[in-house]
Amino acid sequence: MDASVLLALRDPAGVPFYPIIFQILYVLTWALHIAFVLLSLGSLGLSLYGSAKGSSDKYWSILTPHLIQTGKISVSILIVLGVAPLLFTQVIYDPNWYVTNTLSGMWVFIFIYSLIVGYSMYYWYYYANKAQKSSSTFIGFISFAILVFAGILMHNFTVTSLMPTEWMNMYAPNGVVDTSGWTFNVDTIRLAFMVSLSIPVVGIFLQNYSRFLSTRKDFEASFIEYSAKLGTTLAVSGLLISAVLFVAWMFQINYLFHPVSLATIVGVVLLLAMAKTNRNSYYTTLVLVIVALLISTIRELIRFDLMIDLGYNIYDYPVNLEIPTIVMFLSTFLIMGFVGVAYLLTMAWKVGKNEGVFDGSKDALVSKLGQSTLYIMIAWMAIYFAWGIGILFNNIL
Ligand code: HEM
Repeated sequence: MDASVLLALRDPAGVPFYPIIFQILYVLTWALHIAFVLLSLGSLGLSLYGSAKGSSDKYWSILTPHLIQTGKISVSILIVLGVAPLLFTQVIYDPNWYVTNTLSGMWVFIFIYSLIVGYSMYYWYYYANKAQKSSSTFIGFISFAILVFAGILMHNFTVTSLMPTEWMNMYAPNGVVDTSGWTFNVDTIRLAFMVSLSIPVVGIFLQNYSRFLSTRKDFEASFIEYSAKLGTTLAVSGLLISAVLFVAWMFQINYLFHPVSLATIVGVVLLLAMAKTNRNSYYTTLVLVIVALLISTIRELIRFDLMIDLGYNIYDYPVNLEIPTIVMFLSTFLIMGFVGVAYLLTMAWKVGKNEGVFDGSKDALVSKLGQSTLYIMIAWMAIYFAWGIGILFNNIL
């Protein structure tokens, strides 16, 4: 393929900061996105088993609503966290992203509606389960199937974006232009690997769940033990399945002996040992985060190498430094983001650890974080609008 085609598809305005920063942020935020994708699919999938069992089972009648709630919140987080890698990828790999969106335009529309219908049905499932309706498992299953379908579509966009040499054939097969937007490509092993990770993720989540609740007296010790054991079984079996699929994927694309691939395998073996003994699942989660970052790195490496071979190097992207934008972005991300997330997490942790009703206004740390978040947001809005209006008037007057 002629590199000039790819280079012509770049944004003539260039990028506002050094491309490597966007690349690092892409790797980081995609790992966050997929973590919540896997947690939502894993907990929703497992809750279906509990929902099918009904309310007669002592343990599952507690576990099922908790899993449904976990998945429900995770879907909203995965959507928010999906936007970040989307923005970073379309800054440095805009030829890939926009060509894919053109070739698979119909699927892009379908993706949005699938997400809306799938997530709405999830709420239906949540309320049906709460009301102990017999139809709840069926509704939950449809929601699960639609959300998995959304993941398959997302995978299709990724795979198509990795096939620049085939784009012309997809756009005009046998020389006849096809503007239908129905281009669809799947890499079965890669997709199976990605989806399989939801099993160990929900397993390690359950280990954390039981560890977290073990300090509460209103949960029976036998329930804590049951959920921990279930978590271990899921984590170990899931990790084995994912490990086999990962090796198959790496072998298929000739990356098996790449240092990042080898580091991922070492990470998975370590995870297996830690999940099996379940000494401290919080440490296991830390290793899981590192493995997620390694998987995200290898995804990026595959794309980076492929594009380099075609003569497209993101580090050569023309840079048109825009310091104010970067300062605004980083201060929003670091100051408002970190304080806001710390506030929500601290409150969630304390609510969970507390028996009975937790009153955040009586807790010094929660109150302080809450107030700080509020003041930072007010300051942020004032700066954002003053800055925007200032630039607008500066440009037009
Ligand atoms: C239930 C909904 C979703 C599921 C199950 C899902 C799942 C996935 C999966 C499995 C991948 C990896 C594909 C691969 O590497 O083969 C992926 C990538 C990605 N997802 Fe999602 N996703 C969902 C929703 C979203 C949303 C709403 C957004 C954006 C707002 C988003 C943004 C992204 C981005 C930017 C990538 C990387 C694309 C690339 O690098 O080419 N996802 N998603």
